[in-house]
Amino acid sequence: MKGVLGFLVYVCGALAADQAMVEKGRAEEKRSCVGCHGLRIIHVQRLGRGAWERELDKMARWGSVIKEREALLEYLVANHGDDKPAAPLERSANGVGAKK
Ligand code: HEC
Repeated sequence: MKGVLGFLVYVCGALAADQAMVEKGRAEEKRSCVGCHGLRIIHVQRLGRGAWERELDKMARWGSVIKEREALLEYLVANHGDDKPAAPLERSANGVGAKK
C-alpha cells in the first residue's frame, strides 16, 4: 500500500513538473519567437520532436535568442506536436485568428 501511494505521489510530481516545464516554454515562446513573425505561423504547425528541434536550430541560426530551449521544445511538442489534430483552417488564413 505504501508503495502504491509512493508511486502515485511520484507520478503526480512528475506530471506537475512536466506542466511547469510546458508553462515555462510557453513564456519562452512569447519572449524569443515574436521578434520577426507572429505566433500563428508557429501554432498552425504540427511537427514531431525531431522536426521541432530542427525548427529551433533554424530559428536560432536566423537570430532568435532562445534561453529556455528545453522548456520551449516540451511546450511545442505538447501543444503543436504531429499527434495533434490539424489547426482550424481559419487560423491559417492571413491575419485571421492571429491573436493566439
Ligand atoms: C530572427 C527572426 C526570427 C525569430 C526571432 C524567429 N523566427 Fe521563425 N521564422 C523567421 C523567418 C524569416 C521565417 C520564414 C519567413 C516567413 O515565412 O514568414 C520563419 C518561419 C518560422 C516557421 C514556419 C516554418 C519555417 O521554418 O519557415 C516556424 C514554425 C517558426 N518560424 C518558428 C519559430 C520559433 C518557434 C521561434 C522562437 C524560437 C521563431 N520562429 C523565432 C524568423 C524568425
